[in-house]
Amino acid sequence: MTRLEDWLTWTLSPSISAILVTLIFSLTLPILIHTYLYKRAVAKELPTFLLLGPSGAGKTSLLTLLSNGTPSPTHTSQAPQTATCQLPSTTHSSEDKYRSENDTSSRTQPSIHLLDTPGHGKLRHHAIASLTSPTALKGLLFVVDSAVLSSAAGLTETAEYLYDVLLLLQKRHTQGKTSKGPLAIPVLLVANKQDVFTSLPAGLVKSKLEEELGKVRQTRSKGLLDSGIGMDDDGEADEESNWLGEYGAKGFKFAQMREYGVDVEVVGMSTSAEGEDEGRVHECWSWIGANV
Ligand code: GTP
Ligand code: MG
Repeated sequence: MTRLEDWLTWTLSPSISAILVTLIFSLTLPILIHTYLYKRAVAKELPTFLLLGPSGAGKTSLLTLLSNGTPSPTHTSQAPQTATCQLPSTTHSSEDKYRSENDTSSRTQPSIHLLDTPGHGKLRHHAIASLTSPTALKGLLFVVDSAVLSSAAGLTETAEYLYDVLLLLQKRHTQGKTSKGPLAIPVLLVANKQDVFTSLPAGLVKSKLEEELGKVRQTRSKGLLDSGIGMDDDGEADEESNWLGEYGAKGFKFAQMREYGVDVEVVGMSTSAEGEDEGRVHECWSWIGANV
């Protein structure tokens, strides 16, 4: 105790060495604290974008196209796969809006993680797990085969998967309120294989899926009622939480998801064709950039 007191008296004494030591101490401490806090902030996870969609839609093709810049042949995925890529220098990121126009210092483009998931029905638990785990999830790219959507079976399969994904996002929003407010996850609907001549254009992909999602919603709620699940006192609340979008609405529209922080945009794409459609990749990158 007396040693501590002696030392404290010495630091306050007017001797040169005491002044120097105190000065160095008071100057370095804030720097050390700043470096420590800064390191912690930087070590945070990279923003993650998840690739979802039925098997064969072109998720892995999109992953290779975004990470290598060129399309390459793929095989059906059996396990999730990640790629780290940097936004192309031509893409503006959401961070750019805080930069002054006169700022000429070189700009480092943000890096992102792309997480590809297998689309096969039996392997979708990987995708569901990545959706519910607390990663730095910034957005979803739901890839669909625009040619398959012209058949009734293909449309139903795609819509059922999309329904499950959107309902999960909706539940995540209503249940998972954090201190930073509810989690908003944007979705980019990638209408892939635009080069195939039987494919539907992006606008039609959107409206067909909306219509089909409405049907899935009707079937699911009827199924719930028939099976008697959740038909106790709070049965109605249960049915409401399993209803996608605006409760009781007749038709389904993607706009109904905004209330749950899910903004759905559509882009036409061709991940395997070189040439004129390659320009569409930029639309994909701008969407990623805007949501980083
Ligand atoms: P899973 O891994 O099974 O979930 O499928 P995936 O979504 O990863 O599909 P993948 O990227 O492996 O593509 C499936 C097949 O579609 C491949 O043979 C691709 O070459 C082909 N394909 C992907 N994109 C396009 C496209 O834009 N146009 C055409 N014509 N074919 C494409
Ligand atoms: Mg794949």
